Amino acid sequence: MQRTLIILKPDCIQRHLVGRVIQRFEEKGLSIAAMKLMHIPRGLAEEHYAPHKGKPFYPGLIDYVTSGPVVVIVLQGNRSIEIARTLMGKTFGYEAAPGTIRGDFGASRSYNLVHGSDSPESAETEIALYFSGDELVDYSPAGAEWVFPKNDD
Ligand code: RTP
Ligand code: MG
Repeated sequence: MQRTLIILKPDCIQRHLVGRVIQRFEEKGLSIAAMKLMHIPRGLAEEHYAPHKGKPFYPGLIDYVTSGPVVVIVLQGNRSIEIARTLMGKTFGYEAAPGTIRGDFGASRSYNLVHGSDSPESAETEIALYFSGDELVDYSPAGAEWVFPKNDD
C-alpha cells in the first residue's frame, strides 16, 4: 500500500467543500490513514514548498497556504499518489478537466483547493513534516480486496 499526503487548502475549508472533496478520494477506494485540522505555521509551509523557493509565485503561495486552517490527510492505497493527482486535475482550475476536483471547483491559478504529493520521495518527506509516526493509523479497510485485487500489478 502506498501513502500520499493530501492538504485541503484554505479556500477548500472556507468554501465548505471539505466533505465533498474527501468523498471523491474515498469513493475511488483510497483510505484515510491520518487526518487533522490545523493552521500551517509559516516555517512549515516554507519547508514543505522549499522546492519552489525562488519562483515568482513562491511568496504568494506561502501567504495562501498559511492564510487559514487546512485539513491535512494521509491517504493510502495502491498507486495512491497517481490516483490522487488524477482526481485533483491540472494545477490551474481554469485548465483542469471537468470531473476533477480542481476542474469542478476551481477557476484560478493559485486557489486550487488541494495539494497532493507528486512522487514517493516527496510523499515520504511531506508525511513526516506533518505527522509523527504514532499519528498514522494502521488498519485493514473492509472491502479493500474489491478495490485492489491481489494479482493486479
Ligand atoms: P501542489 O504542489 O499544491 O499539489 O500543486 P501542483 O503540484 O499541481 O503544482 P506545483 O507546480 O507544485 O505548484 C504548487 C502550488 O503553487 C501554486 N502555483 N501558482 N501563479 C502560478 O503560476 C502558480 N504556479 C503554482 C499553486 O497553488 C500550486 O498548487
Ligand atoms: Mg506540487
